[in-house]
Amino acid sequence: MMNPRLACIKCKMEYPMDRIRYRCDCGALLELRRDLDGVSPGALVEKWERRWKAKRGVDASGVWRYRELVLELPEDQIVTKEEGNTRLYPGGKAAKFAGIENFLLKHEGENPTGSFKDRGMTCGISAAKMLGARSVACASTGNTSASMAAYAATAGMDSLIFIPEGKIAYGKLAQALAYGGRTLQIDGNFDTAMELVQQICDRLDIYLLNSINPFRIEGQKAICFEILQQLEWKIPDWFVIPGGNLGNNSALSKALMELHQIGVISKIPRIAVIQAEGANPLYRLWTEGGRFKAMENPDTIATAIKIGNPVSWEKSMRGIKWSKGVVEQVSEQEIMDAKAVVDAAGIGAEPASCCSVAGAKKLVAKGVISKDDFVVGILTGSILKDPDAVIGYHTGKLPGIKSNFANAPLKIKADVESVRKILSLRDAKPHPEKGVRIL
Ligand code: F0G
Repeated sequence: MMNPRLACIKCKMEYPMDRIRYRCDCGALLELRRDLDGVSPGALVEKWERRWKAKRGVDASGVWRYRELVLELPEDQIVTKEEGNTRLYPGGKAAKFAGIENFLLKHEGENPTGSFKDRGMTCGISAAKMLGARSVACASTGNTSASMAAYAATAGMDSLIFIPEGKIAYGKLAQALAYGGRTLQIDGNFDTAMELVQQICDRLDIYLLNSINPFRIEGQKAICFEILQQLEWKIPDWFVIPGGNLGNNSALSKALMELHQIGVISKIPRIAVIQAEGANPLYRLWTEGGRFKAMENPDTIATAIKIGNPVSWEKSMRGIKWSKGVVEQVSEQEIMDAKAVVDAAGIGAEPASCCSVAGAKKLVAKGVISKDDFVVGILTGSILKDPDAVIGYHTGKLPGIKSNFANAPLKIKADVESVRKILSLRDAKPHPEKGVRIL
C-alpha cells in the first residue's frame, strides 16, 4: 500500500524517491504519488486523533502527525520544531468586514519562524537529510529563506539564500542573517533569483528547497489536515488563500484530493486563490485564458508575493479547477485596509496574508461567496515580519495608499494635563470601576 514515488504531473513518468530530482525529463514538475486504494479512512483518522494528544516530539508536530500522507521516515531522520499546531480564530471584525458570518482565520504566522513555510520546510529538510545533502539553497521573498535557515541550523546543514536586493521585509532578512544563512542579495527580482538558484543547485550539488521541491509541498498539505481536524472533519464551503509562487494552494488541493480519494471527506470545498493586482500572472491566465505568460515587472506592497513567474502554476491550476474554485485579484488599497482590520481584530498578519480577507470580501461583493457560506481564510505570515508596512500605514506614509483605518501615535508632553487633554478630545469620562474608556 502507499508506495510513494515521484511522478510527473504531465507525462506521468515515475521516478524513485531516494534520488535527487526536481523535474521530469519532459521538463514538467514532479509530485509525490501514492497508492491510496484500500487505505481505511477510519483507521487513518483514528491514528491522527490519537497523535493529537502527544505532548512532545514527532507526533506533536502538526506536520508529522499526518505522516502517512506527508512522508514516512525513521524518527531519527526527522528534523522538526513541532511546527504547525496553529490557531483557527473566529474572524471577529475581519469577518464583519468581509461580510461573512462564519469566517475563520487559520493563522500560519504562528509557526516557529513566523510563516506557513515551516510546514513544508520540516519535510524538505528531512528529505535533504534522507538524501544525504550537506547544503541547501533557496530563492526567496523572505519567508522561505527565514524558515530554511532555521531548519538548516537545526539539522547542522549549510544554507545558501538568494534574495532580491532591497525588496524583502526587514523581519525576514533579519531572521535569515540571525539563523546563519549565507545570504546573497542579487540585483534582480525574485524571478531572477529563482532561475539562478536552479542553475546553482544543478551545478554545485546543493539541495534545492524552493516549493519546486515535491517534499516541500507534501509538508504544506498539513495545513489542510490540521484545519479539518480542528473542525472535527466538518468541511468548509471555501478556502481562501493568497497566491505567489503558487506552492501553498497546490498543496491545499493535493491534500483535499487525497482525502477525497481515500474517503475521509466526501464534499469538496472550493479554493479561492487571491493575487495582488501588481503581481497577478495566475489571475490573468484565469480570466484571459490561452497560454501561461510570466509577468515582467511584478510589483506590490505585499512583497512576499511579488512574483511574476510562479513555478507551480500548473499544479495550482489543476487544483483550482478540480475544486471548482476561482482566482481573484486585490488592489494595494484593499490589501492594506484588510490588513488594518485583521490587525485591529487582535489577530494581525503581514500584508500578503491579508489578501485572504481582502479577496473574501471582494468575492462576497461579487456574489461568488455567499454570506452564509462557511469560509476558512489562511493567514500565511506573522504581523512582525513587516513592521515597515504597519508603521507606514498608520502614519500615513505609504505612497498611493489611503490610511483609512489609521491609528497613529500622538506626541505629547510628559504631564498629566496633556494626557487629560488628549483623552477629553475623545469625550472620556472616568467610570467608577473600569476607569477611563479612551476610545
Ligand atoms: N504569504 C506569504 C507570507 C508568503 O511568504 C508567500 C510566499 C505566500 C503567501 C505565497 O505562497 O508562494 O506558495 O503561493 N513566499 C515565498 C517566499 C515565495 O520566498 O517566502 P505561495
